[in-house]
This record gives sequence, structure tokens and C-alpha cells, in this order.
Amino acid sequence: MSAAMKQVVLAAYARGNPQASDFRIEEVPVPRPGAREILLRTLYLAVDPLLRFSVDETTLTGASRMELGTVMVGPAVSEVVASNHPDYAPGDVVEGRSGWQEYCVLAPDRSDYRGPPRKLDPALAPVSTALGTLGGPGQTAYEGIVKVGRVQAGETVVISAAGGAVGSIAGQIVKVLGGRAVGIAGGAAKCAALLELGFDAVADYKAPDFAAQLAAALPQGAEVYLDNVGGDVTMAVLPHLKRNARMPMCGFIAYYGVGMEGPGPDRLPGFYRQIMNKALEIKGFAGIFAGQKGLEDIAGWMKAGQIRFAESFVEGIEAAPEAFSSVFSGHDHVGKLLVRVAAEA
Ligand SMILES: NC(=O)c1ccc[n+]([C@@H]2O[C@H](COP(=O)([O-])OP(=O)(O)OC[C@H]3O[C@@H](n4cnc5c(N)ncnc54)[C@H](OP(=O)(O)O)[C@@H]3O)[C@@H](O)[C@H]2O)c1
Repeated sequence: MSAAMKQVVLAAYARGNPQASDFRIEEVPVPRPGAREILLRTLYLAVDPLLRFSVDETTLTGASRMELGTVMVGPAVSEVVASNHPDYAPGDVVEGRSGWQEYCVLAPDRSDYRGPPRKLDPALAPVSTALGTLGGPGQTAYEGIVKVGRVQAGETVVISAAGGAVGSIAGQIVKVLGGRAVGIAGGAAKCAALLELGFDAVADYKAPDFAAQLAAALPQGAEVYLDNVGGDVTMAVLPHLKRNARMPMCGFIAYYGVGMEGPGPDRLPGFYRQIMNKALEIKGFAGIFAGQKGLEDIAGWMKAGQIRFAESFVEGIEAAPEAFSSVFSGHDHVGKLLVRVAAEA
């Protein structure tokens, strides 16, 4: 009889913020790799906010929609434990979209647009950073600040969800470029951690005096707003943006649970006024475009001690649903939140 493993499957489509009860843990046999396939043992899982788009009952923005009862999708760092593919050997550590399961068989030749599993160099940095600073969140921060935001020395950049994986790296890239980084995050502890990471000023959007904190942090306004959130936070930031400000629109986590139309009131008229009056330059983007160049620059800045990676862990695959839910309902972690599924060899 073959060995058993655990996997997390989608039990119900999310309504509003995802709940742990939307998922179910199942025990199934460990799969065997076929011709030109590899067997992976999962080490770390990322509970990325964008995965929310896959667990909607209807397809809203072109994201892949999951069928109920199938293994939760998502990126992971894994160790190759068996290989029938010439490019991979047992012991290699890779990053790929192998989903929320303890083991996974992948066919590198049949990978999607993201390419085959990426081989990692453990000498460069802890392999877990391939899901954070040296992975998708790092690429996203780079694309938002360097390419779309075109941040110049001396400019002020305000960043929402600054305590998250993308925001915490983005603020540090602003500092590397000679800018002034202002972070918005929930809670005094998270804000203090951002100052530790090198942010120049912070504002706690959960505090009753958030508006005053933001005004104090932005006495001259801001040239760039990296928006990860939307909603009330963005409405509070808009009056502080300078004329011709750039607004790289990275994400809108405040709206991920509300479908195409929020509960109201309709704030689009005020939003449109600000866009036109201030000639705002708003651009949505996908972080993967920063590609290898973004990761190489960040790795160089890390080596030079200019960027620190922030990550924290919850333990065991059973913790994944709760960890994913907490991304939307609030948690105390700063930087990338990961699920440690198994110990590294
Ligand atoms: N465009 C792209 O290619 C791309 C790629 C990756 C991520 N993203 C987007 O970028 C954003 C940040 O991602 P991430 O990887 O940094 O996520 P993360 O590490 O999970 O951090 C997300 C943070 O968002 C904050 N948040 C959640 N709900 C909120 C709300 N209603 N209002 C204000 N803040 C809220 C929370 O921080 P607090 O504790 O401070 O509330 C949470 O820690 C997300 O919108 C994500 O979808 C876009």
C-alpha cells in the first residue's frame, strides 16, 4: 500500500472574506511520477491574496476558477524527491504552482505561462524567500516602484498594505532609490515594524486618528501612491496626492470579497474628480512582468544589506486555510506569511 499525504481542497466558494470552513483537509495516496514528471515534497506554501480570485463562484476578472473538491491552487517551494526528467534531480529545491498539498507530481514540459518549476539556489538566500522577497511579491514591488511608479530620488511614495509582502519590500526599494517611504498599515505594532525596516513615516489606518497621522506623514503630499488596497484607505490618500501623481494600482484587497459592485455608497464620482483635477496617472499592472531583472536587482540589494526580507511562518498544512483567511481579516505578521509544511532536508 502506498504512503498517504494530506491535501487541502475547496469545500465551498468564498462569500466575502474566505473562511477556513471553505476548505477541507483530505488524505490521499502520495502520487507517483510518470514519464518526464517529477515528484515534489512541499516545504512552504504562500497564502497569496490573489488566490481569492480563484475561489469565487463566478469568474470575475479572468482568473482561473476552481471546481469544488479540487486541490487549492497556489505557489509553493518544494524539494524534488523523485525525478523522471533530465533537468531535475532529487534534492533540488524548486518554486512552482504545486498547490496546497504535501506532495505533488508536476510535468515541467506541460507548465503554464509561468514556466516550469524554478530551481532555487539555497546559497543565495533561504529558499522560503522564493515566495516573498525573491519571488512574486518582490517582482511585484519592483514593477510597481521601479517601472510603473518610476520613483526618483527625493520623491515621496505612499504605500498601502505596507506591512504585507509586497508593501514591505516596496518601501525598502523606495529607500534604495533615494525616495521617502510612507507606509500605511493596520495596528501600532505593524507600523513600528515598518519604521524598523526603514520606512520614514507610517500611518495606522485602524487608529481613530488615521487622517491626522496620514496628514502628519505627508506634509508635502506624495508624488507616487502604490495602492494595494482600494476602499477607505485609498479615499483617504487621494487628497494628499500631488498634481500629476503616479498611482501604480497593484491590488485592491479591500474589495476582493465584494464582486463587481460593492454595497455602496457609490464613491466613483469623487474618485473621478480627483483623477481629472490632479491629472493622476493610474496604471494597473502584474508583477510577473518585472521578471528576472527585478529579482536580480533585489538579490543584489539584499546582498549589499540594503533590503531585508521579512517573513513569518505558521506550521503544518492544516494551518493553511486559517492563515489564508487571516490575510483578509487581519493578522500581526509583517512581510510574507508562509505555511511551513515540512522541514527542509
Ligand atoms: N499586481 C500583481 O501582480 C500583484 C501581485 C501580488 C500581490 N498583489 C496584490 O498586492 C496586495 C498586497 O499583496 P501581498 O502579497 O503584500 O499580501 P499580504 O502579504 O498577504 O498582505 C496583505 C495585507 O493587506 C492588508 N489588508 C487586508 N485587508 C485590508 C483592508 N480591507 N484594508 C486595508 N488593508 C487590508 C493586511 O494588512 P493590515 O494588517 O495592515 O491590514 C494584510 O496583511 C494585494 O492586494 C494583492 O492582491 C498584486
